[in-house]
Amino acid sequence: MIVGSILENTSLEKRVAITPDAVKKYKSLGIDINLSKNYASHLGISDKVYQEEGVTIFNTDREVIENSSAILQMSLISDENLKFLKKDQILIGVLNPYLNEKKLKEISSNNIKCFSLELLPRITRAQSMDILSSQANLAGYKAVVDSFSYFKKAIPMMMTAAGTISAAKVLVVGAGVAGLQAIATAKRMGAIVFATDVRMTSKEQVESLGGKFLTVEGSENLETEGGYAKETSDEFKKKQEDLLKETLKKIDIVICTALIPGKKAPTIIKKNMIDVMPNGSIIYDLAASNGGNSEFTKANEVIEINGVKIMGETNILNNLPLSASNLYSKNMFNFVNNLYDKEKKSFEINLEDEIIKKTIIK
Ligand code: NAI
Repeated sequence: MIVGSILENTSLEKRVAITPDAVKKYKSLGIDINLSKNYASHLGISDKVYQEEGVTIFNTDREVIENSSAILQMSLISDENLKFLKKDQILIGVLNPYLNEKKLKEISSNNIKCFSLELLPRITRAQSMDILSSQANLAGYKAVVDSFSYFKKAIPMMMTAAGTISAAKVLVVGAGVAGLQAIATAKRMGAIVFATDVRMTSKEQVESLGGKFLTVEGSENLETEGGYAKETSDEFKKKQEDLLKETLKKIDIVICTALIPGKKAPTIIKKNMIDVMPNGSIIYDLAASNGGNSEFTKANEVIEINGVKIMGETNILNNLPLSASNLYSKNMFNFVNNLYDKEKKSFEINLEDEIIKKTIIK
């Protein structure tokens, strides 16, 4: 059995699906690897490093696709390369089925099996494959590091002979995977951290990391059975707005992470709140690719309103591509391992398996 991966469009995506460490894991299952030329050279990993692990390097993407049973990627491959896929081949990646619905239906109807990893169910057995968690965790960390480097003041409290510098105050909006890592990172760097969420279970998690949870008074727990957020009512929005407007008067950095699956990100930070924020403060909006949590977020731009910088980053993991690739490639391997029948030495698509059933594009 052979799996392959081709170079991503590196102007948009710097992560790779197969790292040299992952090659060892595939080899231990008896699976061989094909890669295209210069596959990870933008990350400082030469073809030679892969070749030393026993990988076959091809000059063209077409050769990789034509000589592999499964293609493992970060994102959906180009239309030109899609044409080289043939019946019974497998394509796995973050395929963005809502955006690429038509294309994926067309490929699947040619009996090519596509699996999209963002559809993984959040069950215990799938935790080692959970790309949403592994990538969100790094994104939360990096959002704090990047926003702190833009901030013009020191973060921890410092008492010096020349006077005292007070600790920076950070607000994290949305305390899911990215938000909780942002809280932990900001605390480690000495900030005073506040956080808010619509799911009441997150209160205890925020507090266990040393954050102060801002509860919207009198609100019900807006959590679905799957652990995700529900959309808020107008009454909730008004109460949340009042609470945040008061809090933001003293906040230096806001990290926005609030999302509702399959919907536009909720607009939480409005003009009247930005107006009360101290001059020089920063809003770092990780929800930018879903429309942003601030009214003014612009994807991949830094804009300034009344001295407040609003940063809309859509692929923060391109700033941390090695760590992100390391975790992603392990998630990918664990997914492939679950598909692979070690006795028959082939991929078995068992639709009774919840992981396979939920991720396959029908
Ligand atoms: P997400 O990325 O969909 O959303 C981020 C956060 O924004 C969530 O905490 C959500 O409640 C919050 N949010 C949405 N609307 C908001 C609003 N109007 N105001 C304030 N906050 C708002 O969520 P993520 O990070 O994917 O986590 C969702 C859940 O999944 C969590 O409960 C997490 O613990 C759980 N989870 C479970 C795993 C498992 O294997 N069982 C693995 C990873 C996460």
